[in-house]
Amino acid sequence: MIQKKLEVIYKPFDKATRVPPGTTLFSAAHWIGLPIDSTCGGRGTCGKCKVQVLEGGAEITTADRKQLRAAELEEGWRLSCQAKVYEDTTVTVPELLRVPKAATMGVNRLVLLDPNVRKVFVELAEPSLTDQRSDTERLRDALTAEGFDMKVELRVLRTLPSVLRDAEFKVTAVLGGDRLIAVEPGDTREESYGVAMDLGTTTVVGTLMNLKTGMAEAVRSTLNGQAPFGADVISRISHGMQGDEAKTELRDAVLRTINTILSELYESAGVGRDRVYELVIVGNATMLHLLLGIDATPISMMPFTPAFTDPLYVPALDAGIDIHAGGYVQTLPVVGAYVGADIVAGIMATGLAREDKMRVFVDVGTNGEIVLGSLKRVLCTAAPAGPAFEGSQIRCGMRATEGAIEGVTLTDHVELQVIGGDIAPRGICGSGLVDTVAQLRLAGLLDAGGKMRSREEAPEHPLSDRLIMVDGVRAFLLAENVYLTQRDVRELQFGKGSIATGIKVLMDVMGVRATDLDEVLLGGSFGSYLNPESAKIIGLVPAVDVDHILSVGNTAGEGAKMALLSFRERQVAFELPDKVEYVELSGRSDFNDSFVSVLQFPELETVQ
Ligand code: FES
Repeated sequence: MIQKKLEVIYKPFDKATRVPPGTTLFSAAHWIGLPIDSTCGGRGTCGKCKVQVLEGGAEITTADRKQLRAAELEEGWRLSCQAKVYEDTTVTVPELLRVPKAATMGVNRLVLLDPNVRKVFVELAEPSLTDQRSDTERLRDALTAEGFDMKVELRVLRTLPSVLRDAEFKVTAVLGGDRLIAVEPGDTREESYGVAMDLGTTTVVGTLMNLKTGMAEAVRSTLNGQAPFGADVISRISHGMQGDEAKTELRDAVLRTINTILSELYESAGVGRDRVYELVIVGNATMLHLLLGIDATPISMMPFTPAFTDPLYVPALDAGIDIHAGGYVQTLPVVGAYVGADIVAGIMATGLAREDKMRVFVDVGTNGEIVLGSLKRVLCTAAPAGPAFEGSQIRCGMRATEGAIEGVTLTDHVELQVIGGDIAPRGICGSGLVDTVAQLRLAGLLDAGGKMRSREEAPEHPLSDRLIMVDGVRAFLLAENVYLTQRDVRELQFGKGSIATGIKVLMDVMGVRATDLDEVLLGGSFGSYLNPESAKIIGLVPAVDVDHILSVGNTAGEGAKMALLSFRERQVAFELPDKVEYVELSGRSDFNDSFVSVLQFPELETVQ
């Protein structure tokens, strides 16, 4: 159900936004790129985010009473991070005194550098007979004076007395939100790191980020160690269903992958593990469940319910992840069983839910996740695409590794682009598959129904000697021992048909046509490598001008970086599931009807 939106106007900028009831004035401002000052991460302890409510109302909260003077409260000043909107509201925002640093990430998104991990250097008064405050109180008082709140855990408390005294009470407190991660001797503010991780079913990518500069220090990627238990989420879940031992196997496998990536990152950047305080991780719902040792079985069965969708902030030690022993792992929220935190991160990285452009974002893989919308309304769905795009179930299919044909051009001869350069092709990966089919269409060797011509049917064609038979099935020879069969074409038709139908259903629900789309964004580890023109020729994406079909790269990883570098962006991510409407495709009659019609390839005149 769509909630009624409320209007918030920010003076003196006259910037307006519409938000669901209950959104804070602070978040609503950030959604439209209006930075309100803060050092506490929106926890109501720094007092820097105050705004004056001119119209509408905002209850006075306990934090308001603590941070603001009575006269200010009287004049309508409120902490914007605490003030929730329940009616149309107009506020004045004071000018920013401190302009936060910003970095460009995702798809041209400017992100304010304001990480959830903060380092605060304090010089504490030494205890005396006239000042017998406990070590904790002493530290808390100093942090409160700087606008920070802290919660201490036993692990830090155990070392606190010796660290304070050895360092002569000059220490750096490391906070993850309001959790005290560590107290370090001396001033260590220059050394603050975190890791953004994209936990894909196939590939895991980690980036070590310098939280001080916002720069990436090192990047590593490797195959997910769970691969031997199955290529897709369903086979991984099935393996886990064999019992606790199998679940442990899955968890251990992915932890080994993650921890190997981490140690390689530390080594390559020359950064110690004890300076890495947070890991922000995104992935589909199944990957997050398996990583945290949570039963994922119900995700695979009707009515597809995950154990959790909320973002989790868990101690790295509990999660088994090798960052600072007091550090935390942050997961981003998931929308549902088949629209995971990787897609939430993708929505952040593309800014799709925050800009006034109608866009469709497609993450192409064994599952095609599709998001359509603009700041006004966002819809999403997941369409089962089968394994074609990942190169499996394709006769000569392979992953996008060395020797894979990734690009094809057909003229009067065959031109191939092979990963690894000038080497003999070993097979075809997903993007090569899409290119081959698109080029066969253009060359007149494949009809709109997907039927490949035989040598007898096209004897005059310059490529007719490439039309061969393999085990009684028509095929097109790309290189020695590498060919595309008629069955492969059918496999691709199924995959693209499913995704195209998902897009069409969302467009129908939204009431938009291809001409209303400003952009089509192709993301994910596979989608980013697709040739936009080929994607259009095979009808995977709507028939928009090819210049408006953009490859947007690893948006999941970019979104994770944004959440790591900016608590404001993290907040936006937390709120996204409430803004995004999930459309379930199974059981919809229009899905089945459209599916049959989009199995065909579009007529060439409509896509050229
Ligand atoms: S009090 Fe710090 S952001 Fe609101």
